[in-house]
Amino acid sequence: MKIGVLISGRGSNLAALIGACAEPGFRGRIAVVISNRPGAEGLKVAEAAGIPTQVIDHKNFASRETFDAELDRALREAGVELICNAGFMRILSDGFVDKWRNRQLNIHPSLLPAFKGLHVHQRAIEAGVKITGCTVHFVRPEMDEGPIVAQAAVPVLSGDTPETLAARVLEAEHKLYPMALKLVVEGRARVVGEQVTLMEADGTEAAPLFVPAI
Ligand code: GRF
Repeated sequence: MKIGVLISGRGSNLAALIGACAEPGFRGRIAVVISNRPGAEGLKVAEAAGIPTQVIDHKNFASRETFDAELDRALREAGVELICNAGFMRILSDGFVDKWRNRQLNIHPSLLPAFKGLHVHQRAIEAGVKITGCTVHFVRPEMDEGPIVAQAAVPVLSGDTPETLAARVLEAEHKLYPMALKLVVEGRARVVGEQVTLMEADGTEAAPLFVPAI
C-alpha cells in the first residue's frame, strides 16, 4: 500500500512511520511526504530516508479549497492509497476529508475524545487527569474526531510540565502510530458504524489495540 505522509514540523512521528515501513514484511511504503511549511524539519527526515518530498505552501493559495485540491492532486499523482497525518497543522476541507474517507489517519496527543485541539498537555495538567495518552484515528471533517484505531495510555506525574508530559506522550506516539498503521495496511482495521473493529490475520475479531501506560 502506497502511503502519503502529511507534515508541518519536526517529523518525529514521520521517522517512526519510516521505521515501521522498513520492517521486513511490512505491507506499506511511503511514496511521498508533503509539508505545507517550506522549512519543516521533517522534510530532512524524509530526504535522509530517500523518500520524495513536496512542499505545498498554504500561503500560496487563496482558499482552503484550492490548497486542498492541489494536495489531493499531488497525493494522487504519487499513487497514494492511504494518508497519514503526522503533525500536520492544517484543517482540511470537508470535501477533501470525504474523498479520503477511511483512507486517512491522524495521531493526536490525548485520549480522544478528551482534549481535542491545541495546548493539549497544558489542558490535561490543568484538568488534573491522572492518565492521558495518544490516539490514532481515521479522519472526519470535525477536528480530532473519527473512528479510533488504537490508543496508548501515559500517566500524568506530579510535577509534570506541559513539556515533560509532551515528551512522555511523544514516546508513546512513536510506538502507537506504527502499530496502528500496520493494522490498517494489512486491512485488519474495519470501520463499522463509525467504530473500528480489529481483525486477526485469520479473519476473526481481535481485541482492541490499547497500549498500557508507559
Ligand atoms: C505530535 O505530538 C502529534 O501528535 C501532534 O503534533 C506533534 C507532531 O510531532 N499532532 P512530530 O512532527 O511528529 O515530531
